[in-house]
Amino acid sequence: MIGRLNHVAIAVPDLAAGAALYRETLGAKVSEPQAEPDHGVTVVFIELPNTKIELLAPLGEGSPIAGFLEKNPSGGIHHICYEVDDIRAARDKLKDSGARVLGDGEPKIGAHGKPVLFLHPKDFNGALVELEQA
Ligand code: CO
Repeated sequence: MIGRLNHVAIAVPDLAAGAALYRETLGAKVSEPQAEPDHGVTVVFIELPNTKIELLAPLGEGSPIAGFLEKNPSGGIHHICYEVDDIRAARDKLKDSGARVLGDGEPKIGAHGKPVLFLHPKDFNGALVELEQA
């Protein structure tokens, strides 16, 4: 069912420092910061030959990554995103198998303008999983 690894998202306390680390120290192609007010984050996209890395920093009050950064003050891997062909079919199959879909279960438009869903980390070995309809 799942296809390519679309991205790995890393929560960072300081977006400029995180972007500089990837641009200068690791020599990667790093985008300008992009505010995602609907998701409570500002994102920097890092393009690698085979996938992407996204650096996430909190934006506004009640950011969904604020609690994560409290527990992991220097940052950490926040989620991994797999591509699926049909996100609703994937959701239904996962729910049938007992996996929990976060939120109201309806796909939302993610940072790439495509429908996404998140799956409960307790059902996936402690990893928050994002599905994106590619
Ligand atoms: Co993501």
